[in-house]
Amino acid sequence: MAFSRRITTVVLVLLFALTLLSSAEASLFDTIRQKLSAFTTPAVEVATAAPESVVQKPKHEGKRVAIIGAGSAGSSSAYYLRRFLANSTVDKLPLDITVYEKHSYVGGRSTTVNAYDDPTVPIELGASIFVAVNYNLVNAANELGLTVSSASAKRPRIEEESDILGVFDGKELLFTYPEGKWWSLAKLIYRYGPMAPYRTKKLTEETVGKFLQMYKPPHFPFTSLSEAVEAIGLLPATGTTGQQFLEQNGIVGDFAQELIQASTRVNYGQNLGLIHGLETMVCMAAEGAMSVDGGNWRIFRGMVDASNVELRLQTSVTSLSKDEDGQWVVSSKADGGAATSEVYDSVIIAGPLQFSNIAINAELDKTPDVIPFVTLHVTLFSSPLRLDPVFFGLKAGQPVPQAILTTLNETERSDPAIVRGEGKHAVGNSGFFSVSTLRSVVRPLPDGSEGGKIEYVYKVFSPERFSDEKIGELLGVKVVDKSATITWMHRHVWKSYPYEYPRVTFEESKLAEGLWYTGGIEAFISTMETSSLMGMNVAQLMVNEWAEEKQKEEEAKHIAEEQKKLAKQLMVAQTESDQEKITAIGDEL
Ligand SMILES: Cc1cc2nc3c(=O)[nH]c(=O)nc-3n(C[C@H](O)[C@H](O)[C@H](O)COP(=O)(O)OP(=O)(O)OC[C@H]3O[C@@H](n4cnc5c(N)ncnc54)[C@H](O)[C@@H]3O)c2cc1C
Ligand SMILES: *[C@@H]1O[C@H](CO)[C@@H](O)[C@H](O)[C@H]1NC(C)=O
Ligand SMILES: *[C@@H]1O[C@H](CO)[C@@H](O)[C@H](O)[C@H]1NC(C)=O
Repeated sequence: MAFSRRITTVVLVLLFALTLLSSAEASLFDTIRQKLSAFTTPAVEVATAAPESVVQKPKHEGKRVAIIGAGSAGSSSAYYLRRFLANSTVDKLPLDITVYEKHSYVGGRSTTVNAYDDPTVPIELGASIFVAVNYNLVNAANELGLTVSSASAKRPRIEEESDILGVFDGKELLFTYPEGKWWSLAKLIYRYGPMAPYRTKKLTEETVGKFLQMYKPPHFPFTSLSEAVEAIGLLPATGTTGQQFLEQNGIVGDFAQELIQASTRVNYGQNLGLIHGLETMVCMAAEGAMSVDGGNWRIFRGMVDASNVELRLQTSVTSLSKDEDGQWVVSSKADGGAATSEVYDSVIIAGPLQFSNIAINAELDKTPDVIPFVTLHVTLFSSPLRLDPVFFGLKAGQPVPQAILTTLNETERSDPAIVRGEGKHAVGNSGFFSVSTLRSVVRPLPDGSEGGKIEYVYKVFSPERFSDEKIGELLGVKVVDKSATITWMHRHVWKSYPYEYPRVTFEESKLAEGLWYTGGIEAFISTMETSSLMGMNVAQLMVNEWAEEKQKEEEAKHIAEEQKKLAKQLMVAQTESDQEKITAIGDEL
């Protein structure tokens, strides 16, 4: 009981000081009584602190928490704070949660836009899939009653004979995959041999197994992400590049260069010479890929709605500072509104600090580093035209695969500047990371009647702006007549995820007393699920702190009661002038 020992020490020091200061006439009784009075005020440390800080300002009941950001991390923080609190020794603690979100919507990098501005055609602009082992997302979708569909069901073959996937090197399709057909696997093994696919599957399962330990004690909750990563045995994966990690595990050659690298490029805009081994394996862990009907953001909206929070949309937090009581002052500004400041016990910064524009005017134990992020251009468009087979090195009239991923060509693969490059230096000859045909849509005729006019909705990921001319090339038209070729378009530039350079330490989640941060997990793994995991982790750490606080308060109360009992006995002893008893009580103190 470190706390009661500290109290005893304070008592002894005080007792000693008082003995020195007290006049000869001061009886032992007075000394003890003065001593005891220290215990009747709630804060013991007050006795040693400067007198002016003793002044207590009216204390509010319970805890006030500010969550900055309503993406996966912030929504999950709120959701799990409610849950973990209800299941703790502080379940009666009143908890006020305010969520600040600078945008007009909940979801952050998980959001949809409506093709043709038609709400029946929502298209994911950011995070589009999660997988079966993403427990938080799968469970929340379930609990919130959302409909989830498998990614392959979402991608019905637009043309029966077209392949599901192709890997393009800027000149030709190196490999095409007819998923779901009986010869798919045979085709894979024919090109790459059996060992690389088999070893990749094994290595992925092993890596996922290690990662899943983060959800359970003794690893959950983790105060230090770095220590947790070491304890579960994932440092070898995060500390090497994807290329090295695969080589160490006997996965080399075209399978790595074509299929695995195509995945790291479509998922993270990075080649195997840069991205670390763990994030590489995340790209291969695609089993049970799914998404929420209507948009993955529904999970986060649902979490916020279920958590009894005050949601302030279109409100940016501008600065954080501490008041004289050590509480956090959150200054914010609503769009078109005035700036306001409010006081909180705890604050969670739920998103990358480096893009948050928050001025922190307080000393932190840890300040997260600024790290390079991928700038990703997402281009969504619709057209009555199909992708041009000739552009992809096929014969005219041949069907083009639905998802075209890209990889480096033979010469680029041995150029370190490209293999380890960022952005346009990494993309290579193809000039884009992926182009996919998301769906077909039957458009009404100009007179409003339902006609047979079929159009296709496409998505391109590229490191630079993907121009109308480039879209024309994909569709095989020289001159882009906007109204006939591109019938709807939406461009967005994201700071999408970090460049996942190999590393063995990670930003911590506690930046100072009462200040929490979820963004450190993104240099480990950047997905909706891992941000949710970090939100859940922070929630558990916070509730644990409150429970500990309560326990300490109870201990202090218990000691104070004991002291009161002794004081009563002392009073009796005094009236009875029982010197022996007085001394005995003094000793007990
Ligand atoms: C194009 C793209 C594709 C992706 N694909 C996938 C995928 O298929 N699967 C997957 O799992 N992940 C994918 N990701 C990654 C995934 O989107 C992110 O890892 C995850 O959503 C991050 O969640 P977060 O809550 O940590 O951060 P964010 O979603 O960025 O949330 C942070 C929030 O904080 C708000 N905010 C910031 N500063 C302030 C401030 N000062 N005041 C108030 N609010 C503030 C922001 O507006 C934002 O809403 C993709 C990302 C992109 C961009
Ligand atoms: C509640 O707490 C108990 C004991 O700590 C734990 O076993 C249980 O899983 C918790 N339930 C939830 C919903 O977190
Ligand atoms: C490979 O890409 C480079 C550009 O990075 C290009 O100059 C070269 O012609 C390409 N090689 C082949 C075989 O396509």
